[in-house]
Amino acid sequence: MTTGDKNELMAAALKARENAVAPYSEFAVGAAVMTDEGEVYTGANVESASYGLTCCAERVALFKALTAGKRKIQAVGVIARHSGGPMPCGACRQLMAEYAPNATVYVSDSEWPEATRSFTVRELLPEAFTGPRE
Ligand code: THU
Repeated sequence: MTTGDKNELMAAALKARENAVAPYSEFAVGAAVMTDEGEVYTGANVESASYGLTCCAERVALFKALTAGKRKIQAVGVIARHSGGPMPCGACRQLMAEYAPNATVYVSDSEWPEATRSFTVRELLPEAFTGPRE
């Protein structure tokens, strides 16, 4: 992806972070996914009083893209106030392996959004389970 696309992705994730609903952890995370056509869908984490129901920013963004009918995701951006950027949790890695297997994942610290680290989904979840018949 171009530098311009990456900047657009991370700017969208940074903006989405403003709408995080994180009263328990107070750890606000923003995410954005970009389709192969360049459309961007954003998300932020939403926490529950029943903590385990919390949904990460990455999954909110991915679910928005999927339920808008998008199936080809080229990149996922994640941003939070965390040194080096927040690494996606195992649940998000599983969903990305299933629905965004060819994506590049960019993470960055919200204090320094232009300093991104990038990973492939395969690096984040090698030998992923993709279903009983595959
Ligand atoms: N969280 C995300 O939204 N994405 C990540 O990559 C890491 C963790 C959220 C879940 C929870 O609301 C908070 O961060 C603390 O774990």
